[in-house]
Amino acid sequence: MKLDRLIAKHRSLGRSEAHRLIAAQQVKVDGTVCPENQYPVDRFMQVQLGDEIIQSAERALYLMLHKPAGVVSATVDAEHQTVIDLLDDPDKHTLHIAGRLDRASTGLLLLTNDGRWSKQFMNAESKVSKVYQVETLQPIPQEAVTAFAEGFHFATEDITTLPAGLEILAEKRARITLQEGRHHQIKRMLGRVGCLVSSLHRESIGRLTLPENLLPGQWRALTDSERLLCLS
Ligand code: URA
Repeated sequence: MKLDRLIAKHRSLGRSEAHRLIAAQQVKVDGTVCPENQYPVDRFMQVQLGDEIIQSAERALYLMLHKPAGVVSATVDAEHQTVIDLLDDPDKHTLHIAGRLDRASTGLLLLTNDGRWSKQFMNAESKVSKVYQVETLQPIPQEAVTAFAEGFHFATEDITTLPAGLEILAEKRARITLQEGRHHQIKRMLGRVGCLVSSLHRESIGRLTLPENLLPGQWRALTDSERLLCLS
């Protein structure tokens, strides 16, 4: 929301009265006088009008988890342990999962309560790469490389997958790079070339790679620079 609108709404004022208060340096954002009527404010910023705090800053959370196998990428589940159960942050119930992994899959999982951040790398249009190591029960045919690059039509959603990278590392092992994250996408694409997945591990999102010292089940907050690495 823009700053003038927030002020006007809070005080039931017209927009021009809000502009007058902003020009009179009565308005502070995160403790600093803000002279811009159209300054974009989100719920993680504190807004003050004179001595009154009219919006308190919510705590923004950006977490990475090394998801172990067997845990569900969901906030609640009647049957299985969820990734939220693995966290002990007091605000964990505000989180959403930025890119789910199947229950059996492992690796880098990001959780946040800031939808504007997660949208930037979750949207297919953002073209942020997600890299996976996969093992299969059958040998991966060489022709799969071209098939992945050309895309597969998924009739259920009536979409064709974006070009995906397939690097065959061994007879039954590959590195796959996706620019999107459709339901069971890797399993479905490998299924089309006759391969069943035996293990699937996400190594990275954008330029953020799962740190080697973050063991399965462990989590920590992202640093400011790690938060940016996910976006490109
Ligand atoms: N594709 C899948 O099939 N499963 C995952 O967990 C992630 C990508």
